[in-house]
Amino acid sequence: MKKISVIPGDGIGIDVTDETLKVLQVIKDSGADIGWDVFDYGAEKYLATGITLPDEELANFRDNYDAVFVGAVGDPRVPDMTHARDILLGMRFKLDLYVNYRPVKLYNEKLCPLKDRTIEDVDFVVFRENTEGMYAGTGGFLKKGTPEEVAVQTSINTRKGVERIIRYAFEYAKDHGKSQVTMSDKSNAMRYEGDLWQRAFYEVGEEYPGIEKQHWYIDALLMQMVKRPEQFDVIVSSNMFGDIATDLGGQIAGGLGLAASGNIHPGRTSLFEPVHGSAPKYHGKDIANPLAAILTAGIMLEHIGFPKGCVRIEDAVKQPIATNKVPRDLGGDLGTKASGDYIASVLSE
Ligand code: NAD
Ligand code: IPM
Ligand code: MN
Repeated sequence: MKKISVIPGDGIGIDVTDETLKVLQVIKDSGADIGWDVFDYGAEKYLATGITLPDEELANFRDNYDAVFVGAVGDPRVPDMTHARDILLGMRFKLDLYVNYRPVKLYNEKLCPLKDRTIEDVDFVVFRENTEGMYAGTGGFLKKGTPEEVAVQTSINTRKGVERIIRYAFEYAKDHGKSQVTMSDKSNAMRYEGDLWQRAFYEVGEEYPGIEKQHWYIDALLMQMVKRPEQFDVIVSSNMFGDIATDLGGQIAGGLGLAASGNIHPGRTSLFEPVHGSAPKYHGKDIANPLAAILTAGIMLEHIGFPKGCVRIEDAVKQPIATNKVPRDLGGDLGTKASGDYIASVLSE
């Protein structure tokens, strides 16, 4: 049996995970040999006990589970995000989940905020480097709290780290019949990391002669995602630029209510979470859209050996989008629970 550890987390993470588990139950009932355990890590636990995510638990996930599913973490009562950093970034870093896979796929043209765009125009994937860059946590304060205060935040880019995400992007393109890979950086202003990313991109790219290489500076990339999204097949970028690009990517494909993602190290226990956060204002109000989390569970199923489960979930999500049986953010009037129930019923048919 493939085992999943589930962390609903905070805010709407809890709401959307409830619906995702309904869907996973249907997939299980139809024969997929999966099971899961739910863990209560999140703001509530942190505020009550000071515990975020213990190292022993992380080792338990790594050694005894095939995947981790997280709803979302983040709570206004923990403004410095200590627990969220430990849980989310902790797993990304300590499990070395260097691939952040974020598909940008428009399921229905009526959901696209860009004028006259078809589903063929908005269909690409972003590979975000997930263990280095501005997120590495290197830096510090000097004279904190004084008028002379200095804050340093350093971007870490290792040849190994940059090369492996770039190679992953090219391999993905090769395996999926994609003809082009775009790398995005800010090498006009940030020369050191930019120089490394440029060299790694074109050197690794030489191993893939059939694949066209394209480069945009990150500011221009975002502009191009709005202007001509059809030009993209596969985008690869650093941790922070990839983070920024995928909220925009999510929006041009219908919004964060649909944006799914995987944090992957091939062959190892990996982490799956929707792109969106805990949207605390919607928590418990039966408003949040569970489809991003449900699609994320699909990506997870594919990763742990149930590709058919992924296809079934994607098909089940497309159907209510076409008929407007969706939550408010997509123009429908279903609540969170009704939306989850609807997907579960489509899958049970
Ligand atoms: P957010 O993604 O939580 O919400 C931004 C807005 O997007 C919401 O106000 C809402 O209008 C919309 N939205 C997002 N998800 C939705 C859904 N499923 N259904 C309907 N509408 C949805 O981003 P934020 O407000 O910047 O962050 C809130 C908290 O979440 C913060 O603490 C942040 O750090 C955290 N966060 C966590 C993750 C994660 O756990 N992976 C990701 C992003 C942000
Ligand atoms: C995401 C989120 C996280 C990130 C935050 C919550 C640290 O925005 O998963 O996209 O920046 O990686
Ligand atoms: Mn983000």
